Amino acid sequence: MDIKSIREYLGLEHDWEAVQNCIATALQSDIDLLNATNGSILSHSGKQMRPLLALLVARACAVDSAACDATIRYAAASELLHNATLLHDDVADESEQRRGVPTIMSLMGPSVSVLLGDYWLVKAVELVLGDPDGDSAGDMRVIRLFSKTLSDLAEGEMLQLQKAQSGDTDEEDYLRIIYNKTASLFEAACVSAAISVDASAEYEKAAKEYAVALGLAFQIKDDILDYAGTDSVGKPLGVDILEQKMTMPLLGALTNAGPDEDKRVRALVKDIVGHPEHRDEIVDFVKRNGGMKYASDRLDFYVDQAVEALNVLPESFEKELLVKLARYTANREK
Ligand code: IPE
Ligand code: IPE
Ligand code: MG
Ligand code: MG
Repeated sequence: MDIKSIREYLGLEHDWEAVQNCIATALQSDIDLLNATNGSILSHSGKQMRPLLALLVARACAVDSAACDATIRYAAASELLHNATLLHDDVADESEQRRGVPTIMSLMGPSVSVLLGDYWLVKAVELVLGDPDGDSAGDMRVIRLFSKTLSDLAEGEMLQLQKAQSGDTDEEDYLRIIYNKTASLFEAACVSAAISVDASAEYEKAAKEYAVALGLAFQIKDDILDYAGTDSVGKPLGVDILEQKMTMPLLGALTNAGPDEDKRVRALVKDIVGHPEHRDEIVDFVKRNGGMKYASDRLDFYVDQAVEALNVLPESFEKELLVKLARYTANREK
């Protein structure tokens, strides 16, 4: 089952529409260039995993109650913030394509991409803050949650750069990087959703454990697709090694291959900037030494962990969909 049919299957159209409207309204500006560019990003919207998860978590934690205004705002904020990180990430990675179309970075340059990323980020923050004078003031816990995520995102990107330079990434470093750059935002999306419906501490903990494990799985899958994806991914592939990112498939192959090969291959990765021709050799090394199998086992481990975290929630249709989304994460092709 793909994500589109999960969305259609949901019967959450009303909430889903509310999130889309909230995003579009938050981005409204009287600057034509800003509106036109935002409109073009919104017309290629991606999977929208984070708001989808948020709406499902809210319903799974508060069966029978519809998502409230705060749920919608936090869900919209998670997607705005996600897009902000991508606008920045495409500059950092000098990426030409995303969601099957040219990036803002390649069409309009790095300055526009960074400025737009800043704009989307601030609009996300405004949604989290809500209206302090009205009845939609943001919950202080949610404000703290999203601000921790903002700091995690920056720290994750910096640690990734630091490790790219030193070439000594191990699995613990990698897990910290992907928690910071990806799972932390899954956590903010799901936990804020739980808080928005006044979930019990037990349900909130379940939402958090589900989100963190799923976020790790989601990034591991992204990193697997970088080695083994097809055109359907809609973004350049085989680029992680060129950026000296040592991700799960490579770390798995290094673990399997032993210390001499570890030293030799790490040296190749460290030198790759001047020698892009080494990429094929490294990819071949990963495939020959069981790196893909290793990464897919770790992926399955985190997907199972995410599904297990849901056990304490009452049975509901939304809970089943959360399980389906976890399984989809492992099988997705884009
Ligand atoms: C891409 O995220 C960046 C990662 C965190 C792996 P998504 O795969 O959710 O991107 P879109 O929004 O669907 O394009
Ligand atoms: C995820 O890492 C980026 C962010 C969380 C901003 P990647 O660099 O792997 O994401 P893609 O592959 O460009 O989407
Ligand atoms: Mg990237
Ligand atoms: Mg990637």
